[in-house]
Amino acid sequence: MRILTVGGGGREHAAVEALYRSGAEIYSVMKNANPGIIRRAKGYKLVNERLVDDICEFAIEHDVSHAFIGPEGPLEIGLVDALENIGVKCAAPTMAAARIETSKSFMRELVSKYNIEGNLAYAVFDNAEDTEKYLKTMTAEVVIKPTGLTGGKGVKVQGEHLHSHEEMMAYVLEILDTSSGMDGVIIEEKVNGEEFTQMVFVDGKRIAPMPLVQDHKRAYEGDMGPNTGGMGSYSDANHLLPFVSEDARNKALDILRKIVDAMSEEGCPYHGPMYGQFMLSKDGPKIIEINARFGDPEAMNVLPLLENDFLTLVKDMANGRLKEDSVKFKELATVCKYVVPKGYGTVPVPGHEICINEDGIHESGAEIFYANVDMIDGKLLTGTSRSIGIVGIGETLEEAERRCEAALRFVEGEAICVRHDIGKRDLIQKKVDRIKNLLS
Ligand code: AMP
Ligand code: GLY
Repeated sequence: MRILTVGGGGREHAAVEALYRSGAEIYSVMKNANPGIIRRAKGYKLVNERLVDDICEFAIEHDVSHAFIGPEGPLEIGLVDALENIGVKCAAPTMAAARIETSKSFMRELVSKYNIEGNLAYAVFDNAEDTEKYLKTMTAEVVIKPTGLTGGKGVKVQGEHLHSHEEMMAYVLEILDTSSGMDGVIIEEKVNGEEFTQMVFVDGKRIAPMPLVQDHKRAYEGDMGPNTGGMGSYSDANHLLPFVSEDARNKALDILRKIVDAMSEEGCPYHGPMYGQFMLSKDGPKIIEINARFGDPEAMNVLPLLENDFLTLVKDMANGRLKEDSVKFKELATVCKYVVPKGYGTVPVPGHEICINEDGIHESGAEIFYANVDMIDGKLLTGTSRSIGIVGIGETLEEAERRCEAALRFVEGEAICVRHDIGKRDLIQKKVDRIKNLLS
């Protein structure tokens, strides 16, 4: 079967590998020449992923029947609606359904309207005066975000990134002044706890869960520094996390199930992978955000463990034929560490060469997923975003982490960084202790 894939990052490379294992005939569009995707594709085109007409033309040229779309950008501007119009079935949400990610006010209002658990106190503003009045009434700490897409980098947390009323207002003005502000600024209650990711496959009505994953958004070791798209992530062999109980996990799944029902009720049924980002607080899981796609890096943790045929899952999500209990994952742990260009998170330095020994990586018990890199004249060059995901896989988290580190020795470059603390016993224990204190 011929399938279109959109996107050139690590998440998309992981999806392409899973489709390739299912025997799909792959046609890819992406903005960078991702060598991992290119070697699996029958055809590809380098194009900005928001150029809907060019992508539709490519889909028609190659007569694809289904599409998998990795990033949120094309969803926001209706790529799915355009592809469905030309008869391509998509395992991804329409523009209306993608609002669950592209409009944080839509998400909060939906959760509030349907009395779904896990919402936060929030307020949305389109001007500085009203925002300022509101902030002056707040006694508890807040988080300030644009209501639109941020690429994971537009969130500032009081007490961490913002330390005074002046700093908060300066950030509000910055958001209202830029296009990423879309319809404004959202002020949310700051929740204390530990974050986890629950992703599910969705077919418009039913959900099928994936293993839990924990991402690390902060740029520097010890969870310090600016927020990024995610520096690395881990998942455990029992598909829970060392600090998340089965009960907390079921609450998160229940929230996602109710969101899927609410979207169907609202006339914008959701198809495709859905990403729930939760903060486990003393009052249970709270919704931080809902994304209309796989997480990146989280997709690299779960897709290598998928036992089902991914192509069938893509078709089932698109066509409303998912069987809830039939999606199985291997009971193994994974640790993913992203190799990023120096300065990623603030001012990244692109255009530097990375040398890879793929055999060494595989012999270490790890997988490699290429991300924001370009293969130019036989040289692998960094871009401004995350470069390469290395995923160690093992019976335990310790083994997976050791394998990831062993594999990282086969990645060399002068201008790259890695958060080596991800998946290590010390950092995980800190998270377990934090939750123990919070719940006691
Ligand atoms: P987001 O882009 O919404 O995922 O936010 C990026 C990061 O900011 C999250 O991973 C959290 O660490 C933090 N964050 C976002 N919203 C909140 C909140 N309401 N309370 C506490 N931390 C938050
Ligand atoms: N890992 C964060 C995200 O995909 O949004």
